[in-house]
Order: sequence, then C-alpha cells, then structure tokens
Amino acid sequence: MNASDLLAYYLHRLGLSCYRRQLVFYCRQAGAPQPPPQLPDGFEFRFVKPGELESLHYPGGWLKLPAARQWLERGDSDMLASIQGGRICSYLWVERHIARIDYLDLEARLPPGHVYISKVLVLPQWRRHGLARAMYQFILSREPSLTMHSACVKENLPMLRLFAQLQWGPRLILTVWKLAFLRWYRVERTADGSIRRHVRAGDLPAELFGDD
Ligand SMILES: CC(C)(COP(=O)(O)OP(=O)(O)OC[C@H]1O[C@@H](n2cnc3c(N)ncnc32)[C@H](O)[C@@H]1OP(=O)(O)O)[C@@H](O)C(=O)NCCC(=O)NCCS
Repeated sequence: MNASDLLAYYLHRLGLSCYRRQLVFYCRQAGAPQPPPQLPDGFEFRFVKPGELESLHYPGGWLKLPAARQWLERGDSDMLASIQGGRICSYLWVERHIARIDYLDLEARLPPGHVYISKVLVLPQWRRHGLARAMYQFILSREPSLTMHSACVKENLPMLRLFAQLQWGPRLILTVWKLAFLRWYRVERTADGSIRRHVRAGDLPAELFGDD
C-alpha cells in the first residue's frame, strides 16, 4: 500500500473520505416463470448454509469469511453458489430486506417482493463459462414473482454485457458525492432522462427501489 492509499484508508476509517461514485441500477420486473438454466457439467447450484462456508472452501472476495458467516446467520440474505468438486466456484448474494451497498456506504430498505442481487463473484479460473449468467437465470427460475434489482459501475463491461444478455434494462444512475460527513445524491432515470438532484438520504430507498 502506498502513502496515498494509506491516507485514503485512514480517512475512510475516520469517516472523512471524499469521493464521487456512480452505480448503474438494473431492474427485472416480476414476470412469468423462466426455465432453469443449463448448468455446466458437474456443477450444482444452491443456497449455502452458514456452517458450510468452510467445508465448501468459501473463496472470500467481497466479504471475508467471518462477515459472510455473519451475513448468513443474520438471516436476511442468501448466498447462491455454484459448486463443483466440493468447492465454491462462484457466488452471488440475494439481499431480501435491506440492500447493503458497501461501495456507496449505503443501506436501503427494499419493498416487499423486491430483492437486491449483489456481490457477484466468479473465481478467475471459472470466468467465461457462463456461471454468472446461469446464477442470475437460476434465481429467475426459482423466484419469478420477485422484482430483482442489481447494480454495477459503468466501467464494468462484463457486467454491462451480462445484463444486456439477460435483457435487464438499466433503470437509473445514482451518483454520490461524499465530502467527509456530507453527502449529496443525484438520481438520473434512464427511461425518460429525468434527473433528481439533491435527493435526501431518507428518500433514497423509494428512489432506488420504488415503483416508477
Ligand atoms: C463479471 C463476472 C461476474 C462475469 O462472470 P462470468 O461467469 O465470467 O460471466 P459469464 O461467463 O456468465 O458471461 C456472461 C456474459 O457476460 C459478458 N462477459 C462476461 N465476461 C466478460 C468479459 N471479460 N468481457 C466482456 N464481456 C464479458 C459476455 O456478454 C458473456 O456472454 P458470452 O460469454 O456469451 O459472450 C466475473 O468476470 C467476475 O467475477 N468479475 C469480478 C467481480 C465483478 O466484477 N463482479 C461484479 C460486481 S457488480
């Protein structure tokens, strides 16, 4: 870690960090049941229990092992994993009551019937085998009556292409400016290009996940 990374780290720990960050939010409305995906040979897809994380060689990534265990034990999120040879090869989280968007230091309550799919990770050696696409399709086939949200940064070309393939439309772009303890939120809706500047923190859940 160089000096500026170290400074940024400590400023962040003290709550004094400054940034401008953006996320593109995608949405797939509740709809007709989807057929289950074709799984790659030898793979099993399922939700993981807290006690299985170690035996399935949970690979870390977005959450370290203790945090992943804590998330599962809290009971308001599920981790879907693809498993092959007794090891987790990819995972994503299905957040069912609160969307915890670490990248923006944000927590937003989800309306009933909505979930937020987050923290997608495919281990490098398993990328481009269709695992991420199959995980999303698996959730869609299992829980078609849910409205599903997911998000990524604009620069994440693989995710942008994945959402396009899944036919999930971009719904809005959230920009957050953070200056120490101050924050500003701006929401741009992609359907009509309308922009809401200075969204209050309390209004964010409805902006992000409410009906249009
Ligand atoms: C993004 C990521 C989840 C994709 O996983 P994956 O299993 O390799 O993706 P898939 O094989 O299911 O690919 C589905 C589609 O996504 C797109 N895609 C995936 N990887 C891509 C890449 N490296 N470049 C361009 N497009 C890509 C393609 O359209 C692909 O379809 P195709 O193979 O028929 O062309 C994986 O690269 C990853 O874990 N990245 C690091 C973590 C990350 O960015 N997570 C997302 C946080 S929001």
